[in-house]
Amino acid sequence: EKGGFDHFMLKEIYEQPNAIKDTFRGRLRADEGIVKLSSVEENLQKFLNADRILIVACGTSWHAGLVAEYILEEFTRIPVEVEYASEFRYRNPIIRKNDIIIAISQSGETADTLAAIKLAKEQGAFVYGVCNVVGSSISRETHTGSYTHAGPEIGVASTKAFTTQITVLTLMALRIGQAKGTLSRADFHRYLQELDHVPQKVEQALEHNLEIQAIASKYKDAPNCLYLGRGYNYPVALEGALKLKEISYIHAEGYPAAEMKHGPIALIDEHMPVVIIAPKQEHYDKIVSNIQEIKARNGKIIAVVTAGDVQVKKLADYVIEIPETSDALSPLITTIPLQLLAYHIAVMRGCNVDQPRNLAKSVTVE
Ligand code: M6R
Repeated sequence: EKGGFDHFMLKEIYEQPNAIKDTFRGRLRADEGIVKLSSVEENLQKFLNADRILIVACGTSWHAGLVAEYILEEFTRIPVEVEYASEFRYRNPIIRKNDIIIAISQSGETADTLAAIKLAKEQGAFVYGVCNVVGSSISRETHTGSYTHAGPEIGVASTKAFTTQITVLTLMALRIGQAKGTLSRADFHRYLQELDHVPQKVEQALEHNLEIQAIASKYKDAPNCLYLGRGYNYPVALEGALKLKEISYIHAEGYPAAEMKHGPIALIDEHMPVVIIAPKQEHYDKIVSNIQEIKARNGKIIAVVTAGDVQVKKLADYVIEIPETSDALSPLITTIPLQLLAYHIAVMRGCNVDQPRNLAKSVTVE
């Protein structure tokens, strides 16, 4: 049942090229310049008239929501807010007529997300769901939505659900951006082609598994770990840290790289590993200077870099290469090495990777 893998988590990490492909199958036709999600087509006017999109979710799905915030705002120019479902539901949130609520949930059973949807519906909002489990409570409770086609996710630590959620939300942003004209024709077509090539690039990222395992062996006994990223990769830093803490029980925190100097830099010494997502993208020079600041304090750097990188390689203790992608689609690739790193560290520490202590696959309690 684990298809020759030692754990479901590893199997599911490796399923991502196909899971992403299955998620855009029939929805993305790059050569014809077509992106289509039936639930978006049927409600296109609502999306075109939206004053705001509110995303509610928990855990990893909340991180996918944060990535979507960056993508949706960039492509559609609709203001987006992302909130923990548990906070949203208990604070009498402001929901206006032309707001759209997007609820993201792998299981479709998360109690807080379900309650947030019910509250939004009571206030007259249009609620769109992004779920993986077909027929789940959230998929039934929302007005409409799109399924991710990740297939069953058994490992408690979410992996392929995350990348397929981002895939669906990217398709949505592309279609709305096209319809609104907020995305240029040239960019629209370029992103379609790029998205079509993402599964292949995920495949290439997975090829670094053994190097990542070797890096894991160096840091498996670290008591703490910091994850840093900027822009589209800031939520990926949060997700990388969550993966490490939930399966290896190492304390980890994710931060936007530039926030380091506002506090976390005090933690840096020769014992602190810092995982930094540093692909060749906008503000690359800023990431390079963050790395210099960490090295000046003897911190240990594990950097995720674009193949062929020169500058970061000179500074980092270890680098993991990923293929080149545009900034907006990079989270689908940069997240892969962080999943593998957490996985190998947890295995080396003898942890129960698929069923970490104190955690359940779906949190149906409030
Ligand atoms: O099923 P959901 O996507 O609603 O679940 C949300 C969180 O409980 C879930 O992502 C959790 O954080 C995972 N264990 C993360 O790996």
